Amino acid sequence: MSGQPRILSGIQPSGALHLGNYFGAIKQYIELQTQGEGLYFLANYHAMSTIQDPRLLHEYTHDAALDLLALGLDPNRAFLFRQSDVPELTELTWIFFCVTGKGLLDRAVSFKDKLAQGLKPNLGLYNYPVLMAADILIYRSHLVPVGGDQKQHLEMSRDIATYFNQTYDTDVFPLPEARHNETPNVPGTTKDAGTFQKMSKSYGNTIEIFLEGKPLRQAVMSIQTDSTPVEAPKDPDRCIVFALYSLFATPEEKSKLAESYRAGGMGYGAVKKALLAKIDETFGPARERRKQLAADPDTVEDILRRGAAHARGLARETMELVYQATGIAKLTKLKGHPAG
Ligand code: ADP
Ligand code: TRP
Repeated sequence: MSGQPRILSGIQPSGALHLGNYFGAIKQYIELQTQGEGLYFLANYHAMSTIQDPRLLHEYTHDAALDLLALGLDPNRAFLFRQSDVPELTELTWIFFCVTGKGLLDRAVSFKDKLAQGLKPNLGLYNYPVLMAADILIYRSHLVPVGGDQKQHLEMSRDIATYFNQTYDTDVFPLPEARHNETPNVPGTTKDAGTFQKMSKSYGNTIEIFLEGKPLRQAVMSIQTDSTPVEAPKDPDRCIVFALYSLFATPEEKSKLAESYRAGGMGYGAVKKALLAKIDETFGPARERRKQLAADPDTVEDILRRGAAHARGLARETMELVYQATGIAKLTKLKGHPAG
């Protein structure tokens, strides 16, 4: 790798972002924007495998741009763009289909998970990992910060890069490295048969990042707890409120609260209030930034336009190499190519 690493990540605009998305993925990739050339995109082609209401897809895509910018994605340091503003991506996806064995996709865990959630098994969902490989490889990205659940997709991207390079005896695609953060699954607000369940839009157990005021209070106050009386000692490790509080707390705050649990005399209501205060303190400034951005759609569109122009330039450079490597003829000037 010469120069600074190219860091890339995407987020699906498929609904309001929640604490699981923030601590599991977004926080890390915003932190990484200072460490290389950051490319961040709104994966609307991916989202259309599940969101098929045009108005909703449009709205979620715009909302996700506001969310990321408000949460600290800095357009002066990194590029933000819509996936669909780089249409070469779908072309590369087709080319990857032709070097990828079906067995690779048959092993994808996420497709099975989606079916288990009751989603329709369309080919978009099935082929999702190939589009994701194209997302990463079309910019010849080096580092891909993602949540732990994307591990297999990243491995598949490396496999697909290798298949392409081997098939065409080339080194067009470097193998991307995943970067996972240490936050384990963020639990949702309800328990399933007494055990923590991952916070997820599809389980309806989320706390949205940009919720505030009464709805936020209601969401926090209704987090499921057990019926241990106030005076009795409690087990912090079995409590969702404690787990969520820990995401925001310093190690000292966390161990102090754990002591209060074990000592007894503290009700869950008090911990919920402490969690609420942490959420307000952490996301308060982002909420204000988001309101300002929402009132200024031209600025947001401008940021996306600049991001797309940069990303598309990189994508086209890669595609020139891909056309040469594969023998796909184009009405473009290609050195040494019959069409050139
Ligand atoms: P959802 O399950 O709500 O549909 P997504 O699948 O769109 O969320 O997840 C987007 C990103 O957020 C993923 O990369 C994933 O790693 C992260 N993420 C989502 N939920 C959680 C969670 N509960 N804990 C940790 N990370 C999560
Ligand atoms: N599949 C990712 C998710 O659901 C989103 C995504 C699409 C992505 N393409 C990507 C993430 C490329 C990183 C790199 O979270």
